[in-house]
Amino acid sequence: MCENNKIKTIGVLTSGGDSPGMNAAIRSVVRTAIFNKKEVIGIRRGYEGLVNRLFIPMQSYSVGKIISLGGTMLKTARCPEFKEKKYRKQAYNNLRNSGIDALVIIGGDGSFRGAKCFSEEYDIPVIGIPGTIDNDIYGTDMTIGFDTALNTAVEAIDKLRDTADSHNRIFFVEVMGRDAGHIALNTAVASGAEAVLIPEINTSLDSLYEYLMIERRKNKTSGIVIVAEGEKQGNTFEIAAKMKERLPQYETRVAILGHIQRGGSPSCYDRVLASNLGYYAVKGLLEGQSKVMVGKVNSKYIYTPFEEALSKHPSFHEEYIKLTKILSI
Ligand code: F6P
Repeated sequence: MCENNKIKTIGVLTSGGDSPGMNAAIRSVVRTAIFNKKEVIGIRRGYEGLVNRLFIPMQSYSVGKIISLGGTMLKTARCPEFKEKKYRKQAYNNLRNSGIDALVIIGGDGSFRGAKCFSEEYDIPVIGIPGTIDNDIYGTDMTIGFDTALNTAVEAIDKLRDTADSHNRIFFVEVMGRDAGHIALNTAVASGAEAVLIPEINTSLDSLYEYLMIERRKNKTSGIVIVAEGEKQGNTFEIAAKMKERLPQYETRVAILGHIQRGGSPSCYDRVLASNLGYYAVKGLLEGQSKVMVGKVNSKYIYTPFEEALSKHPSFHEEYIKLTKILSI
């Protein structure tokens, strides 16, 4: 690793929604920095901690036994104050007064917007690590937590399928993803669902109805429809109620998987990804990188400017909508 003597102390924080694997990323940042003879300070509660100086010195042992834990040991928050210049100035003063001269921000797009703004205003190197279950960030094939969230959702849907089958019901299952259908598309394919609704693509309720009728003509007695949280045609209860009006012959039920998708022990994939991204974040800082996010694309670790990561959309598997239908005949 190229030695950058200008950086003596690295601050690390988690921000926005927690995701399984954030702890593995913190552990990696702390230990890679210490390995390179740097000091590390943990910042609690995301940007709120930066503004209010919630700083804790971190040692190698501070991150012992956390690789298998969900959530984030540093805690997290959404911090609207950080959008205001005066609070960002306060944050900068806190960093300077504590000797923190570089930052690693672990979070999603909202967190990177804050990081971009802050790093453009103040001369302090900042690197982002993508941590969100939504997988909605350009510059990485997978975000930390996405794989674990998918496994949690699929396990739950497998269980719902038992009841759907036994009672001849259609279950409308809502998965997370306020603006993105990545979780919905993948869980639909992996759970053998009949249909999937996502915010990016407008699937009319007419076509969903026709599709479910065809299913019925084929003597299917039950079904699973995956609905992404951000679906534009209404919430999952409304969609289920509209379908029930048209399909009175079916019993329908709604299940909202909600925040259970954000919790739990991270999968092996997420631990390995997080460990690598933590390592490459510190490596990047010490080699002079700043205003970038580290990600894994085509098996390689790369740095993407915040500007690009925030202005472009990650590709998503639109064809999974069709695949879901084909594989559920
Ligand atoms: O960004 C992750 C996410 O879990 C989204 O899928 C969801 O819409 C949102 O966070 C929920 O946020 P909160 O926990 O603040 O309600």
